[in-house]
Amino acid sequence: MSKILVTGGTGYIGSHTVVELQNAGYEVVIVDNLDNSSIEILDQITKITGKKPQFYNLDLCDEAKVVELIENNPDITGVIHFAAHKAVGESVAKPLKYYRNNFFSLINLLTAYTGKDVNFVFSSSCTVYGQPDKLPVTEEAPVKKAESPYGNTKQIAEEILAEAASVNPNYHIISLRYFNPVGAHDSALIGELPIGVPQNLVPFITQSAIGKRGPITVFGSDYNTPDGSCIRDYIHVVDLAKAHIAALKRQEENKMSGNFEIFNVGTGKGSSVLEVIKAFEESTGVKLDYKIGPRRPGDVEQVWGDVSKAETELNWKAELGLEDMMRSAWAWEQYIKDHPFS
Ligand code: NAD
Ligand code: WQD
Repeated sequence: MSKILVTGGTGYIGSHTVVELQNAGYEVVIVDNLDNSSIEILDQITKITGKKPQFYNLDLCDEAKVVELIENNPDITGVIHFAAHKAVGESVAKPLKYYRNNFFSLINLLTAYTGKDVNFVFSSSCTVYGQPDKLPVTEEAPVKKAESPYGNTKQIAEEILAEAASVNPNYHIISLRYFNPVGAHDSALIGELPIGVPQNLVPFITQSAIGKRGPITVFGSDYNTPDGSCIRDYIHVVDLAKAHIAALKRQEENKMSGNFEIFNVGTGKGSSVLEVIKAFEESTGVKLDYKIGPRRPGDVEQVWGDVSKAETELNWKAELGLEDMMRSAWAWEQYIKDHPFS
């Protein structure tokens, strides 16, 4: 079976994707510098699948090391590139940190594959759409001026990929625009490990529910939405992980049209902040303490994806609902309370 390089493979989405790759019979090589993840995740993956992935602790910004890695592993047929910094607020405070890490790592990988045949899957984001004019948003919608350096790294990365693909027919590149990934693996052995106070809604909910944080603040209730709170397309991280396998299969079976494609990866359904809170309470039986606060600067009012392209061309569809997302996120929060990661 093919060997796949997963950068950022000990991270949140990466670890779930490694599990799905191994379950699908792929051999996995992880590269991660553990900047935002724990080495213990490797054992957790092994507990789930019974297979320990090969692991390199390496900074992808180090071009010589990346080139050496690729030369030493000529049997790698595909790369799934998750590794990046992703905190929107921090990117505003430290733009160069974000541009350096997110671009150097991408460019080094592409450089190492110059002249070689490779299937490449890139982690993009619905953040490239900003506030779309039309909902659900399709892949053809115009990319809006980025709200943050982080968002800008995703927009520019897609341009870099498109331009690199146009002059290198051996690159087969799929960019997946994720909507809002949440939840955790069913086993509760892997999940999201936020550092410090979570900025994202679901980890804040679970930490508040377990007593690690105070009440949740709903950022704004005066938006032009049915209940006044913002709407997002939340997608279960396991469904998202499976989309990567579908993308690789499309590449392996030579089904791509051209050698650079973009797909939305969401559920196609929007949920408001208040609906998420309600779904958490109903699916876990745990009552949440929340209050309505002011809007968060830079927030998009509402966004959800048109996912018909992924359904027809990747033959992939999200299967899990908001309740599964909440239940699994809660099980994971309870697990890490008893099994803290270093
Ligand atoms: P994460 O931080 O959990 O995982 C990223 C991993 O990459 C971490 O383990 C980190 O240590 C590693 N890494 C970062 N820079 C590196 C470098 N230079 N060399 C080696 N390893 C490095 O993040 P995640 O939530 O799993 O996100 C994965 C990808 O998906 C990112 O590209 C992110 O921008 C994108 N994305 C995430 C979301 C989300 O809400 N989580 C949404 C859309 C897109
Ligand atoms: C979801 C909703 C908040 C926390 C971010 C990035 C985006 C992408 C996904 C990577 C919003 C509300 C949140 C809280 C709240 N990441 N909220 N109280 O903002 O959609 O997107 O993650 O590409 O780039 O910007 O996700 O989870 O932060 O917020 O009311 O304590 O929950 O206002 O409406 P967001 P989020």
